[in-house]
Amino acid sequence: MKAAILTVSDKGHRGEREDRSGPALASWLAERAVEVLGAQLLPDEAGAISAQLVEWADNAGCDLILTVGGTGVSPRDVTPEATRAVLEREIPGIGEAMRASSLAKTPFAMLSRALAGVRGQTLIVNLPGSPAGAVENLAAVWPAVAHAVSKIQGDASECVPAAAAQPSTRA
Ligand code: MTE
Repeated sequence: MKAAILTVSDKGHRGEREDRSGPALASWLAERAVEVLGAQLLPDEAGAISAQLVEWADNAGCDLILTVGGTGVSPRDVTPEATRAVLEREIPGIGEAMRASSLAKTPFAMLSRALAGVRGQTLIVNLPGSPAGAVENLAAVWPAVAHAVSKIQGDASECVPAAAAQPSTRA
């Protein structure tokens, strides 16, 4: 699987905060033999976020794009809106699963408006910005990611029950 990681942070872009979430996700993916084709850090600007998602989905051959940050309710948090603008189909269950899982760790999980969906052959998933939160949310949905990518890219085979298909991929 080929992936790209977009960290969204005004402070990170201004050099006022080190991006620890993007590298944490890159390590997590590398441990699972996912090739990370690209990583970028952008400010919380919807147009720039959308343009980067389109570039990676349409021209870079990414199976999976992860965004990190900007999913909350601060005035500058626009990642879900920027993502929705370029999605062809949303997958609400991915966001629901992330929030359900994270609620066991923090009530603030309900403040993430993260969404996920499909553009072309690519699965795009929003993750919250903290390093721990980003990895925890990705781990929560990881058991379904490979199957989602396969289906998005046209696999017409019968679905095998997830428990049988992926018994031990949860981090
Ligand atoms: N989910 C997990 N698992 N762990 C976290 O630390 N942080 C929450 C939430 N989801 C968090 C989490 C917080 S504090 C916020 S405000 C929202 O994600 C949105 O974060 P974002 O604006 O950085 O994307």
